[in-house]
Amino acid sequence: MASILLLNGPNLNLLGRREPEVYGSDTLADIERRCKDEAGRLGHQLICRQSNSEGGMVDWLQQQAPSAAYLVINPGAYGHTSIALRDALLGVALPFVEVHLSNVHAREEFRRSSMLTDIAVGCISGLGAQGYLLALQFIAEQLRGGGSDGP
Ligand code: DQA
Repeated sequence: MASILLLNGPNLNLLGRREPEVYGSDTLADIERRCKDEAGRLGHQLICRQSNSEGGMVDWLQQQAPSAAYLVINPGAYGHTSIALRDALLGVALPFVEVHLSNVHAREEFRRSSMLTDIAVGCISGLGAQGYLLALQFIAEQLRGGGSDGP
């Protein structure tokens, strides 16, 4: 059993009432519960965190990464702007999958650029809450040493 981290960034605590036409009607608690169930079904432990602050995300990554095998991150808006988050991910050298609920490429121009995607193992964007579950399934396959469809 490995520990997998799930980190959600700013404003994702508002899921369920935040622009539901864009982000869906599930709350973050709903999503975390489903992800924990899925991780358990796959034989792993999921440790969840949400932070509205860039420093809070960096601190948590630095604390948790040494005992974790993989990360799923929805960086929210910081994915488009944060060199500090990019440096933290490079610094802790934890492989990660970037997830966005919405299709960031079908929205405003500024959402098309990412500080993280080129250093991620992969990115899932636009598949709603299911994106988190698909990321966990991919990670479990990687941790089993399989993953012919991955790096
Ligand atoms: C988001 C997309 C970002 O552009 C936005 O700032 C968010 C949510 C998503 O999950 O679709 O906060 O990461």
